[in-house]
Order: sequence, then structure tokens, then C-alpha cells
Amino acid sequence: MERIVFFASLNTFFGKRLQLGYPEIFDDFQIFNKTLYVGVRSKLAFRLNPRADQARRRLLDNFDKWVDTELEEWEDNGPVWNEKWGVKLNWERENLLRKHDFTMRGRACSHVSFLYVMNLNSAPMTTWFLINIIQSPNLLSRFQAECQECLIPSSDGKLAFDLQTLKARPLVQGVWKESLRLGSASAVARVLAQDIELDGYMLKQGSVIFIPVQLLHYNNGIFPDPEAFDPDRWVFNEEDTSQSEMRQKQMAAHLRPFGGGNGICSGRFIAEDEVILAAATLLTKYDFYMQGQVQLNPRALGIMSPKDKVWVKIRAK
Ligand code: HEM
Repeated sequence: MERIVFFASLNTFFGKRLQLGYPEIFDDFQIFNKTLYVGVRSKLAFRLNPRADQARRRLLDNFDKWVDTELEEWEDNGPVWNEKWGVKLNWERENLLRKHDFTMRGRACSHVSFLYVMNLNSAPMTTWFLINIIQSPNLLSRFQAECQECLIPSSDGKLAFDLQTLKARPLVQGVWKESLRLGSASAVARVLAQDIELDGYMLKQGSVIFIPVQLLHYNNGIFPDPEAFDPDRWVFNEEDTSQSEMRQKQMAAHLRPFGGGNGICSGRFIAEDEVILAAATLLTKYDFYMQGQVQLNPRALGIMSPKDKVWVKIRAK
């Protein structure tokens, strides 16, 4: 499944050139990712693991080749996607990077980081979102009922949802936010551009500081019984105005899976759409049977994946 999702996203976002010239990209990406979590700002993990170091080099060398090509005008016959650049967004990014005199390696790194954020956040998030629903028969039937109500009738038998309505449903929002809250191992970091005093602490220019995402997400003053997956904690009683408004604000301020400020995840709305739509489609078309409980692997930099393989039986309805 991971391989299929990876290549689908690679070819969608980066066109056809990468997979054709570099079929080992999935295996290299896997080793690269398993090693990277050790220290995103240090190369030590790669120095200690020569195989991972080689995978990282191959990945970057292939992205060097991918950017080292003529950048023609975007032809109108492919408004969103073409074989050479994939989605237009990537061609635009490359344009911008060249305009700002990024080196070839700098541009390659920027594109690799895009491949990274696409694959290591939304895909595991879809898995985790589905697991949370499938594990609870009650939640499964409530979620499926919401999906049924948002189905758009179609004459050709294709499944389509009114996504705007579906994702605005309080229960669907609850599952989304609760999955983000418990599934994030995010390491959002900033390098201080100048000395700053914060709560009586003097922080020095050049220091790397992290948003303590898990401390926020597990704050039991804000999320009572924080270990529990409870989508209904995000479902507020609309009649109970002021208090619930304050609580909503506090909870929202403590949910930081997408970072913040200028660097906040620019794909967060796409991510929400793709995860909810994928889950709605799968849960409407298939029955799922899962064995055992799932534990997440904390060795991650974005959204955590299951620690061990998950066995799932899927049957068309
Ligand atoms: C559940 C899914 C996702 C999560 C949890 C997530 C999380 C994050 C986080 C924590 C950051 C760093 C933010 C910061 O430093 O303040 C980030 C950055 C970024 N994400 Fe996402 N992301 C997700 C999906 C996506 C998707 C689907 C895309 C693209 C289609 C995307 C594109 C980006 C980009 C381009 C950045 C860099 C932003 C910048 O530095 O200006 N993300 N993401």
C-alpha cells in the first residue's frame, strides 16, 4: 500500500521523469526517512548508517538531475499537470527558486522536502484516521451515516461527496482533530535570528527551538483524559455559548499539528480534504476487518505510522 501511495503521489506531483530514471526511489526514501527522525538538523545519523547515507545521496543526486533541465513556459494544453513537472505548482516553485538564485542543490532539497511532507503526513494520517474509526463499531456507523447524507447522486455510478458539507460536520471535524492531536510527532523548529527574552529565559541567537507539540496535545488541563481518542470532545453544544466559545479557542490554540506563523503548513487544507475524502470513499465502498490494537511508532517527524504491520481484511460492500 505504501509503495502504491508513494508512486501515485510521486507521479502526480513530480511528473513521470523521476520514477522512470530512478526506480529504487521508494526504497531509498524509506531508508532515508527511517534515519532522518534521529535528528533533522544533524547528519550524524547518516554518518553512522552508510546505507542510509548512500540512499540520501542518491535521492538528492536524482533531484539535482530533475531540476537541472530547461524550464519552458507552461503550455496551456495541460492546465494543472504535465509529464515533465507534474503539478503546475512544482513548475511554479522551480521558477521562483531560480528567480531567487537558489543553487541546484538548494532547489533539489526544496523539492525533496515537498516529497517528504506530502508522503509522511497525509498518507499516515489517512491510515490513522481510518484506524480510529474502524476500531470503534459505534463511531464507524456514525461516520458512515454522515457520509451517506453527503453523497451526491450520480448517474454513472461513480461515488461523489459534497465535501464542504461533509467536512463541516461536527463529528467529522472531531475525528479529524482528534486524529491530528494523537497522531502528531511533529518537530516544528525555528532558528533564532536574534537574542530574545521569553518568560524570564534568555534565548541566544542561533539556537534551535521547538514547539512542544506533544506537550500541548497531551495537556490534561485542556484535554481531560488526554490519551483517550474522543472525537466528541470537539463537538460543542451550540446553545452553551460563551463558555463553549472559550473552550473552543483554548483547544484550538493547543492543537498545533501544522506548525505556525509564516512557516505554517501550506498544504493543511489540501491535507484535510484528501484525508476526509479518502476515508469517506473507502468506508462507503468497503467493509474493513482489523486484527488487534494498533500502536503508533514515535520515531517520526510528522504524523506517526503504526509501529508494526497492521492486518486488515477489506471486502467490497
Ligand atoms: C496531515 C497532513 C499534514 C501535516 C500534519 C503537516 C504538517 C506540517 C508541518 C508541522 C510543517 C512545518 C510548519 C512549521 O514549520 O511551522 C509543514 C510544512 C509544510 N507542509 Fe505540511 N503537513 C501535512 C500535509 C501537507 C500536504 C498534503 C502538503 C502539500 C500538498 C504540505 C505541504 C507543506 C509545505 C510546502 C510546508 C513548508 C511550508 C513552509 O516552510 O513555508 N503539507 N507541514
